[in-house]
Amino acid sequence: MRNDLDATSRQMCFPSPMPAPSLVAQREFVRRLDISSSVLAPTQVLAGLSDAAAVALANVLPCFLCGEESAVQVFANEGNRISSTFQHGASTTLFRIAAEEEYHEELLAHLQAGLPAAQDLGRRRQMARRYFQRIASRDVGDHFSRIAALDSAVCIILAEMMRPGGAFLRDSVAAGIFSRIRHDEGRHVRFSRHYAAALGVTRDSAAESFELVRSGLIELLKCAGAGFESLAVDPDRLFRRLGGSVPKGV
Ligand SMILES: [Fe+2]
Ligand SMILES: [Fe+2]
Repeated sequence: MRNDLDATSRQMCFPSPMPAPSLVAQREFVRRLDISSSVLAPTQVLAGLSDAAAVALANVLPCFLCGEESAVQVFANEGNRISSTFQHGASTTLFRIAAEEEYHEELLAHLQAGLPAAQDLGRRRQMARRYFQRIASRDVGDHFSRIAALDSAVCIILAEMMRPGGAFLRDSVAAGIFSRIRHDEGRHVRFSRHYAAALGVTRDSAAESFELVRSGLIELLKCAGAGFESLAVDPDRLFRRLGGSVPKGV
């Protein structure tokens, strides 16, 4: 079970939502650890990781963590908003995704606990929080279209970080965590695109959302996530992929 004390004892960009019964129920489904808890021991996180890669990962993790915290809020709030309507299926999916985002946050916090402290942590967290506040929209459809652009960007970043011959051994703690997150985020992208389309988001506004999210993310990563070379990630290639073309459809 999630230990809410763990989450509240960490400094967070965005507070955890109230543990609504629907959210608590969904936690059961996503906590099936595909990584045993012993492997998650902080002392094992550094195994196979160079010192430079550990520092670079520690520096970029606050952005990832901030994104997960923001995502928990968005999905839980929307689950609550529609729970009083008759959209039971969508509400259940939203709470399931909120629970998955909580789990990602927990996994990344495990990872962070085994790494050196991020340089300038407060500034990195502040920049990330501002970015996530900037891409929020009062329009629910637009907001979900932005989440689709963001989560698909996370898939690209993780794919680049896990390229064969990269900084992370295939059976390492970090690779296990990144694989799990990448798999989930792919589903979140499909759901968010579908949800945005159902709420009437047009292609043009989806393209605007894509541009806003991806250009801001590239700037954030350039400032807050410097050190991709140490993670065997070519920053030019990464930023080119992140700035790539808008997917077809919404
Ligand atoms: Fe996530
Ligand atoms: Fe997500």
